[in-house]
Amino acid sequence: MAASTRSFVLRHTRLRPVPGLEEIRLHLADEVLPLWHAVQVETRDPDAALPYWAFAWGGGLAIARYLGEHPEPVAGKRVFDLASGSGLCAIAALRAGAVEATGADIDAFAAVAIELNARADGHRVTVVRRDVLDEEPPDADVILAGDCWYDAGLAGRVLPWLQRARDRGIDVLIGDPGRRYLPADALVELAAYEVRTTTELEDMELKHGRVYGLREADPDA
Ligand SMILES: C[S@@+](CC[C@H](N)C(=O)[O-])C[C@H]1O[C@@H](n2cnc3c(N)ncnc32)[C@H](O)[C@@H]1O
Repeated sequence: MAASTRSFVLRHTRLRPVPGLEEIRLHLADEVLPLWHAVQVETRDPDAALPYWAFAWGGGLAIARYLGEHPEPVAGKRVFDLASGSGLCAIAALRAGAVEATGADIDAFAAVAIELNARADGHRVTVVRRDVLDEEPPDADVILAGDCWYDAGLAGRVLPWLQRARDRGIDVLIGDPGRRYLPADALVELAAYEVRTTTELEDMELKHGRVYGLREADPDA
């Protein structure tokens, strides 16, 4: 973990309970815009991505709640947390009895946040810091995909990749708070929760975070 990236994450966040999931603590920020500006300055990149890693998003919160109530999908399994951000889903899976967890994210700050958050929870998450969506599905039993449908470009790539994984026998759990590009027709709803985010990020403090599986492939399609 690059020392400067690590100290940046620590400087700009506080380790504190996740709203609605008080048993899990993450390094979280209060405000998006000042932190985003700090990231732009730190990276000298005016187009730097939003600091997704410093917040628990509605989709990840829904998956984490679901696994708290239903550990069976991940207990004893190897879990791959796509678009891991803070690492929330991977950490929730380890708490639910997953034997190992990998968090994949393209953001260097997320890579550090995942490691720091897992360690703060007494766990270890292997971090993959690259875009895996052009690769074959990972060597895992379960893929968790929390809040991946907020961007058209990303959304268009995630579903086919998850379907390919499913076709190879990997279970898929999706969490989403009703994002614009969610491919609802391809999904089966498993549970719904009120999830508490922040108006810094969302239009409402309480959102409905839903957990989905993938609809079975149509053999006639
Ligand atoms: C809205 S956040 C969700 C984070 C976490 N899953 C949650 O629900 O709290 C989306 C994350 O996807 C990551 N991301 C975007 N494109 C990606 C890609 N191609 N592969 C992996 N991660 C990606 C972003 O860096 C960001 O951390």
